[in-house]
Amino acid sequence: MSGAKYSGLIDRYWERLPVKNRKHIVTLHEGNTPLILAKNLVKEIFGTKKQSSEDSDNNIRLYLKYDGLNPTCSFKDRGMTMAVTKAVEEGSKAVICASTGNTSASAAAYAAKAGLSAYVIIPEGKIAMGKLSQAVMHGAKVIEIKGNFDEALALVRDISENYPITMVNSLNEHRIVGQKTAAFEVVDVLGDAPDYHALPVGNAGNITSYWMGYTEYHAEGVFEKLPKMLGFQAEGAAPIVKGEIVKNPETIATAIRIGNPASWKRAELARDESGGLIDTVTDDEILEAYRMIALKEGIFCEPASAASVAGVIKKKEIFKPGDTIVCTLTGHGLKDPDTAIGVAPETHSVSPDIEQVLEAMGL
Ligand code: F0G
Repeated sequence: MSGAKYSGLIDRYWERLPVKNRKHIVTLHEGNTPLILAKNLVKEIFGTKKQSSEDSDNNIRLYLKYDGLNPTCSFKDRGMTMAVTKAVEEGSKAVICASTGNTSASAAAYAAKAGLSAYVIIPEGKIAMGKLSQAVMHGAKVIEIKGNFDEALALVRDISENYPITMVNSLNEHRIVGQKTAAFEVVDVLGDAPDYHALPVGNAGNITSYWMGYTEYHAEGVFEKLPKMLGFQAEGAAPIVKGEIVKNPETIATAIRIGNPASWKRAELARDESGGLIDTVTDDEILEAYRMIALKEGIFCEPASAASVAGVIKKKEIFKPGDTIVCTLTGHGLKDPDTAIGVAPETHSVSPDIEQVLEAMGL
């Protein structure tokens, strides 16, 4: 499939998505993101022992589905092209969402493209700067609350029930349906499903979407075995793992700082039907994976995205030689430069003098 041949994922998967008229499509050419073989990470995580010679069928293959390369730099664009297209089809004039940042950036951009108003409700002080800058640049009305995502989502549900404003959180089923295309893309590239698919879990829409995509394709006989779904929540925001609502979720991965996920039950279903698991990763494990992906693969993702790789590292004993693992990197690292600068070694500040520069270079 060539990127130029299709304009966005509704066009690409037209027969599988419930859009009535191509004229209504609102697209920023999302989807078709790369699936990158991460050989350096495999070496780093599994060492060379489990690996036989290069490229042998016995090697573990780890792929990164880099969804940070969508138009607004997160996977949310997959669901948003659908949700905003359907909002236009239904004659809506405005959209609203609660967000930890990426949904608001995406909603704002697609609403701008469609000529709709956008309202976003976000937890004050807990949104990475890149995301907030996107929402304001695309003209969304940004309302910061002195509360968390879960409280923001409750407000949004209330408002969308009482005003003619379309909610574009993943409670809107069109979001889930759009996001399932990521699973189609993985299968289209690999020619099969992976053995395992790992991803971060916040509001639990994405794990729900992937499972929907894989099971739908599977039912059509496109491939034989379904993947096991591996979901990872940050330890301080792990309601599904703990089996109870977390009132004050906390994690450095602000994108998944959620204590009462909207798609909780569906995430459990994805886990159980696939024979997978949902587990926690600590902030330290997230940050270690975050740096490792950048240092070893040259890929910059945001902290929440690295929870998928952190989870694979934590669970490395479950994988066997020959297994294929896909980790979704849900958002781009530039979304959250503050965290990157915070964990990186200090830069050197010297005079424009050759001696000093060489010394700083360690030469
Ligand atoms: N990764 C990133 C970068 C995210 O922004 C999110 C969710 C997730 C993972 C988790 O996905 O919610 O489908 O389980 N961000 C939402 C937002 C909540 O408002 O942008 P999920």
